[in-house]
Amino acid sequence: MDIKRLISDSVDFDNLNAYDLLLESSSPDKGDYCLPCFTLSKILHDNPNNIANKVNSSIKPHKFIEKTEVVGGYINFFLNKQTIAQEVLNNFNDTNLKLTIGNNQTVCIDYCSPNLAKYLHIGHLKTTIIGESLARIFEQCGYKVKRLNFVGDYGTPFGMMIYGILNWGSIEDVKTRGNEALQEYYVRFNKEAAEDESLLQSARDIFQKIEQKDAEIYPIYQLILDIALKDAKNMFNTLGVHFDDYRGEMYYNQFVPQAIELLKNKKLLTLSEDAQIVDLSVYDMSPAVILKKDGTTLYITRDISAIISRYNEYKFDKILYVTDVAQSLHFKQLIKIIELLGYDYYSGTEHVPYGRFSLPDGKISSRRGKQAVLVDLIEYIKQKAEAVIENRTFNIENPTDVASKVARAVLNFSVLKVERTKDCVFDIEKAFSFDGETAPYMQYTYTRLESILRKFDNDSCKADYSCFNTEAFSLVKMINNFTNTITTALAKRDPSILANRLMDLCKTFNKFYVSTKVLDGNPNTTKAKIELVKALKTTLKVGFNLICIDTLKEM
Ligand code: ARG
Repeated sequence: MDIKRLISDSVDFDNLNAYDLLLESSSPDKGDYCLPCFTLSKILHDNPNNIANKVNSSIKPHKFIEKTEVVGGYINFFLNKQTIAQEVLNNFNDTNLKLTIGNNQTVCIDYCSPNLAKYLHIGHLKTTIIGESLARIFEQCGYKVKRLNFVGDYGTPFGMMIYGILNWGSIEDVKTRGNEALQEYYVRFNKEAAEDESLLQSARDIFQKIEQKDAEIYPIYQLILDIALKDAKNMFNTLGVHFDDYRGEMYYNQFVPQAIELLKNKKLLTLSEDAQIVDLSVYDMSPAVILKKDGTTLYITRDISAIISRYNEYKFDKILYVTDVAQSLHFKQLIKIIELLGYDYYSGTEHVPYGRFSLPDGKISSRRGKQAVLVDLIEYIKQKAEAVIENRTFNIENPTDVASKVARAVLNFSVLKVERTKDCVFDIEKAFSFDGETAPYMQYTYTRLESILRKFDNDSCKADYSCFNTEAFSLVKMINNFTNTITTALAKRDPSILANRLMDLCKTFNKFYVSTKVLDGNPNTTKAKIELVKALKTTLKVGFNLICIDTLKEM
């Protein structure tokens, strides 16, 4: 129900469209919504209070509006709490939260996309979790989503690893020790290459053999990818994300010659210092280097080839790239080049950048690289979650499952609660508290709803909403407004809008819970509060899923 719409429809004054003027009131004594008449006063050449009085007398009675009051140039609207609560809560279910604005359009989301030559590190968390949350939000809004993981499986680092295997190790060692062994070779290679420059050329030569699918080298490359991807997929499992498509840079590199042809046909390529570039100076951008002197392709070359090929395959209406803000220029160039090539889908191509996510210094030892490695971070968080669950005073049926869902929620919420483009530092200790703005607090609130509903068995009587206090009615309004929260998060490409609103819902519910007895002995008022608890449970279940938090029955 669009409450603002029904209020504005009740205003019958000189073709006035009140919808955009209506605001939520700042405090309950000023009603639920207010209509400021200051801008109207300028147009109608009268003082705001007179105008407010005139508009007020035009208002048609409506069963949802209890009364209106004119104060200081405002009309305050007081809603009829009982009829609204009944209207919103009666038969509320998860189809109320499904939206159709996407019209079944296809959206490709390119996220996570790690370089497989390195361990997944904390830097990959934001792209993975924001990308997954956006995918779920788009689906909730009626879009078809394709989750694309454009893995980084191209480049000299793979030559370096193979050099290591052939000279210092063995395939057997890689098979038994996996990524651990590969990373060791990689680190050792970089150390030794600092002393002996010729090593780098050897790694390049090996990489060239990979591209030529050399009978000895190519299978080793495939083994490396298998190992790295298996590790990465384990991680995705832990985080609760999955992808439809893992084709990465190597796959799309094969279509580069066609892309080069297209660029040539449109006369977009020019020679600069022996490299082939697209000059973008008229658009205030540095040139995009497409082919190096030796004919090797670059990151942007492979992205151009990938977007063309993906469009031909998926016929997407939109494609989103969720990466670090440091790649902004890259995507501006990509979108411009697609436009210059004459492809209309440039207008549905978006870069969705995000700010830094880091740990306080020295938190997780980074023995395996500059940044905390994701497996280590997840292990640490799992242990903390297990300790938290062990300390609970009652028996939990499946503590391991609960702990892993708490761990995942802590991680995902820490990323998603912060405005997408802002930097943040992850305070792990605080993130586990049950009484801060944390994921466990939210999950615990949900278990409260479950437990109330388990105790209630009289469903046949009529609900009496006259018992609803301010908190109960705020919950009704937030539940009713939740689809707007979803569409705002969609429009801004920012799950933090949902994360924060869900936190507000939990906080308001807990205030309601301490101020009111739900099972109060009166079947009719109990029934009304149970309807509220049920609708809230539905809303939290859908909402938590959109921000990648699992609901629990008990914790
Ligand atoms: N592999 C890149 C990185 O680790 C991110 C790739 C993003 N996707 C893309 N199509 N360029 O920074």
